[in-house]
Amino acid sequence: MIQWAAGRMEFAMITNLQTVLRCATVLATLSTVATACGDDASSDDAPDGGCPAVDAGCPAVDAGCPAGCPAPAGDLQTPPQGTPAAIDAWIAAGSYKGAGWKCEAAPHPARSPSPHGVNLICNNTKLSGTAAPADYPFGAASVKELYAADNTTIIGYATGLKLQNGASTGDKWYWYEKLSGSVVYNGKGTAANSDVCSGCHAGAGSDAAHPGRDFVYTQVP
Ligand code: HEC
Repeated sequence: MIQWAAGRMEFAMITNLQTVLRCATVLATLSTVATACGDDASSDDAPDGGCPAVDAGCPAVDAGCPAGCPAPAGDLQTPPQGTPAAIDAWIAAGSYKGAGWKCEAAPHPARSPSPHGVNLICNNTKLSGTAAPADYPFGAASVKELYAADNTTIIGYATGLKLQNGASTGDKWYWYEKLSGSVVYNGKGTAANSDVCSGCHAGAGSDAAHPGRDFVYTQVP
């Protein structure tokens, strides 16, 4: 029951934060270019590792780009995009602790402004290997183990997968979180960062209280 309560608390925090975040996001996007699906064939995605037609209809992955872009089914370096069952199975297989991944040494309390509770973060090669200040490339991914307050029991997971090169908007990320058996989010973020995950992760690197960059707060060294 304690685990359940902790999980619900995080979920409630996230829900409450949505309103605040949306307001902040609207203000932020007023001064930036709000990139909508399908209207930016050339602007934001030009350096997409050679992948053509990046935003054609906003597919989950780059259409017509068989190699290099994150495949929906995932691989050892890449969380899948799809059903919670598929993502859970990939997590359960432990790929995110395998070759090429870098993980924090131990679970730690949430770092402000994180709502994630005690957690441990792992980065794949593309994420951990991208030196600042470069934006992360398509295929960069993090997996976060979410712990109960006992610092030992895993009560959920969150993942973030970058779908395209270049500076981020929420729709360049695929987010997944399942906590205490409930799916909190599963899908691409929104271009306006109006979804709960992008709304906060857009703040990474915005000031001293929001470390990181390009929608990623923690790069595991
Ligand atoms: C209010 C801010 C906030 C919200 C909302 C939020 N996060 Fe985070 N997230 C953080 C912070 C801060 C960190 C890093 C420190 C920590 O978690 O202790 C983080 C870390 C992560 C990481 C590890 C990579 C990184 O950026 O450090 C993933 C993956 C992640 N969050 C996924 C999600 C998903 C999926 C959602 C939506 C269901 C979400 N987050 C919602 C603030 C937030």
